[in-house]
Amino acid sequence: MSLVSTWSNLDSAAFLTPFILCCSPFLLLYSLYRLLRVPNRVEKRIRRFSQAVASHPVISHRGGYPENTLSGIRLAKKKGYRAVEVDLEFTKDGYPVLLHDPSVNRTSDGTGNLRDLTFAQARQLDFGIKFGAQYAGERIPTLQEAVALCKELDLMLILDIKSNRRRSARLLREMCDQDPQLCDYLGVISFYPDLLYLVARTNPELVCAAAMKDWEFTWNMDGSTRHDHWWRQALAPFFDIAVSIVNHYVLWRLIELPFVGLYKKEIDDDKLEFWRKRGSEVIVWSMGEEEAHEFQKTVKLPVIVDISPLDQ
Ligand SMILES: *[C@@H]1O[C@H](CO)[C@@H](O)[C@H](O)[C@H]1NC(C)=O
Repeated sequence: MSLVSTWSNLDSAAFLTPFILCCSPFLLLYSLYRLLRVPNRVEKRIRRFSQAVASHPVISHRGGYPENTLSGIRLAKKKGYRAVEVDLEFTKDGYPVLLHDPSVNRTSDGTGNLRDLTFAQARQLDFGIKFGAQYAGERIPTLQEAVALCKELDLMLILDIKSNRRRSARLLREMCDQDPQLCDYLGVISFYPDLLYLVARTNPELVCAAAMKDWEFTWNMDGSTRHDHWWRQALAPFFDIAVSIVNHYVLWRLIELPFVGLYKKEIDDDKLEFWRKRGSEVIVWSMGEEEAHEFQKTVKLPVIVDISPLDQ
């Protein structure tokens, strides 16, 4: 019996079925990967960002002092910073502004959540007075004002986005369409991998950075619980684990992830090696100027710094 006839005598279905069963998950995964992967359009810009953080290896946290204000950004420039990180939020009527907390209580003379305030209402509040009498009258800046100032001062602007995924992604698309140069000095950092993915998908030319901290969605910095409802708090660790898995094993396969922001107390050689192998530069957050100075004597990594006022 020839080989050919043996071959044809085999029940081809019986032969192919296990083959298809074995391959299809991989084929499916690969198709999914090709479908979801955002093509790299950021290489040139990554270099600009890398140079900015390497030549003066610090980024001013929350803009500067007072935090998330135009004066704060000017102070960062005055102190020689090449990049500032600010927080993006939206008012009730949809204006993009700089604010860290959901509420204006801590940083202004007013009270309430930003999402319940119109831009006109938020603009009336004083966002400087709590940081010192000399800052009285500081107004909440719009994103556009911050962008214009950073352009004027030749600063890299990194937006920390925590909410309003779609709205933020769409807004950045519109802004980049209006001013194609914008993407050269604008980047996005977030704790939310889905948000980063959406931003990258909508704006493949924006430089993205994933911020990470162990149990970020379960515990606050001061060790208090993150959520009001017990069941949310109980589910939070599972969310944290899922986010961590996505950050470490999925996100950088789908989008360019030139930077990751790691919390200063969680840096170790294994983590540095892990991200180096994946082509992501590690940025450390966050510490005061003194601490950053000491830190950088031993660890040569860019740091996000809480800057202090000039007269201190
Ligand atoms: C802000 O202040 C108001 C009035 O004092 C208070 O009702 C509200 O709970 C505060 N919000 C936060 C988030 O602390």
